[in-house]
Amino acid sequence: MSVRIVPSILSADFARLGDDIAMCDAGGADWIHVDVMDGCFVPNLTYGAKVIETVRRVTTLPIDVHLMVVQPEKYFETFAAAGANVMTIHQEAAPHLHRQLHRIRELGCRAGVALNPSTPVETLRDVAGDIELLLVMTVNPGFGGQSFIPGSIEKIRRAKALLTSAGNPAAIEVDGGVARDTITACWRAGADTFVAGNSVFSASDPAAEIGVLRSLCMEQA
Ligand code: DX5
Ligand code: ZN
Repeated sequence: MSVRIVPSILSADFARLGDDIAMCDAGGADWIHVDVMDGCFVPNLTYGAKVIETVRRVTTLPIDVHLMVVQPEKYFETFAAAGANVMTIHQEAAPHLHRQLHRIRELGCRAGVALNPSTPVETLRDVAGDIELLLVMTVNPGFGGQSFIPGSIEKIRRAKALLTSAGNPAAIEVDGGVARDTITACWRAGADTFVAGNSVFSASDPAAEIGVLRSLCMEQA
């Protein structure tokens, strides 16, 4: 199973966003994670299509958009046109998950579903075959730099089991508090795609940290 390390620009320096993304590219990042927050689904506001477009201009890496918003379907077309490659919506904000996942795929993007820490994996049983990426939130969404919730490891195992029982090779992504001391356990539990904000951007050598995080998985392969 290959490993994806996905820096989150939530922790980047927006005065030099282009340089920070170039650093991610140079460090071997696999995707770039863009957190869209609406101040309603989560208690914070960030950015939307304009920033996705900006990231698209400065890198050829796939752009992984995490929609922490109510009514995410309002943004699918504009985000796809802006250059998104992956769009992940929250189960808690998407009552018509089946339709919405198919719409994301129609737009040419990988369709992901995210689960808040309090939302059981089993809520995805009836769409398990329609998911291309399952994002297990390992903090409560809204802010970077929070501590990893330890019970998440068991949840990643259950996410992996659900997809395996559906015969679905979808990616399992983890997001929140992913760092040197948490990534290996996530990998062993079945995750393959690792969002890292604070652990990359606050490292003394951010580009090298991407490789360090990757090696902490690969050594266990
Ligand atoms: C939090 C966001 C994350 C955030 C992670 O709600 O979804 O993507 O950037 O930041 P760290 O890695 O610092 O926990
Ligand atoms: Zn995120």
